[in-house]
Amino acid sequence: MPRTFLALRSVLYVPGSNERAIDKARTLSADAFIFDLEDAVAPSAKEQARARVCAAVDAGGFGRRQAVIRVNGLNSHWGYDDLIAAAKSRADAILLPKVESGDMVRQAEAIIAASGAATPTAIWCMVETPRGILHAEEIAGASPRIRCLVMGTSDLAKDLGAMHTRERLPFLTSLGMCLLAARACDVAIIDGVHLNLEDEEGFVHACRQGAELGFDGKTLIHPKTIAAANAAFSPSDEDLAWSHRIIDAYKEARERGEGLVVVGGKLIENLHVEGARRTLLLARAISELEKERAQ
Ligand code: COA
Ligand code: MG
Repeated sequence: MPRTFLALRSVLYVPGSNERAIDKARTLSADAFIFDLEDAVAPSAKEQARARVCAAVDAGGFGRRQAVIRVNGLNSHWGYDDLIAAAKSRADAILLPKVESGDMVRQAEAIIAASGAATPTAIWCMVETPRGILHAEEIAGASPRIRCLVMGTSDLAKDLGAMHTRERLPFLTSLGMCLLAARACDVAIIDGVHLNLEDEEGFVHACRQGAELGFDGKTLIHPKTIAAANAAFSPSDEDLAWSHRIIDAYKEARERGEGLVVVGGKLIENLHVEGARRTLLLARAISELEKERAQ
């Protein structure tokens, strides 16, 4: 179970060069925002975007929703300064792009540690290259600061020569390897973006597929997709009722000295109860976010 249980159903990219979008983020009900300094920002706008994003994050207003800064890679002209600035900001996490090894994580971690920031920021890692996929376990386990893997399926498609199809068969191996790595290392994992903003039905289908595979949520590029992602990755009322029911039944069985119980014709063991507890933790995290929005 992740160390701090976060709802991360909808994770919206917000271009760091777009002041209007950054301001709008505070009014949106995504569970997390990735303020982007990398792919979405032109070279000529990088420095300005860095200053704008750090100022916006420091100004706050995101409550429990995660404010994450995606920095440029350390092999670029901007990566080092981005990391220092993001580390000193009030960002909840720093997202490293195109991570390909544990060493890349540790290098960034050392810079964050040396930045003089009061509290060490959590690290999220993009896995979006063939080498990154092959090293996903090494990456997810490289540091206790790592909280989340983020799939970058657009970059991956380019490197693989793969096509974006409805069922995403060209990506299933890569998605599966990263899911295994994230779960083995006890970190969250977020699915890649759906690029076609006019394909609402395909988007909902991709969200459902991501939830079925085991992702915690989906990365998004437009606010209009937040509600559908939140719905797809939330437990249903039936899931919640079932979770309560099997937790109670299992507790009673334990009190009778039994290690398993049959509920509604289904065999329930401890592993099901652990899953049910996780569902309730997610529901609680979601309800806290909703309560905060209602205030
Ligand atoms: N985050 C926050 N707000 C956003 C947003 C985003 N990603 N995308 C759009 N909005 C806002 C717009 O600013 C606009 O706000 P307003 O009503 O206050 O003016 C509103 O949502 C409607 O936007 P719309 O006109 O439909 O879209 P657009 O033409 O402004 O932008 C994109 C379309 C695709 C350029 C934009 O959604 C975007 O930049 N997405 C993120 C891309 C990105 O970060 N890519 C890198 C990672 S894959
Ligand atoms: Mg990318």
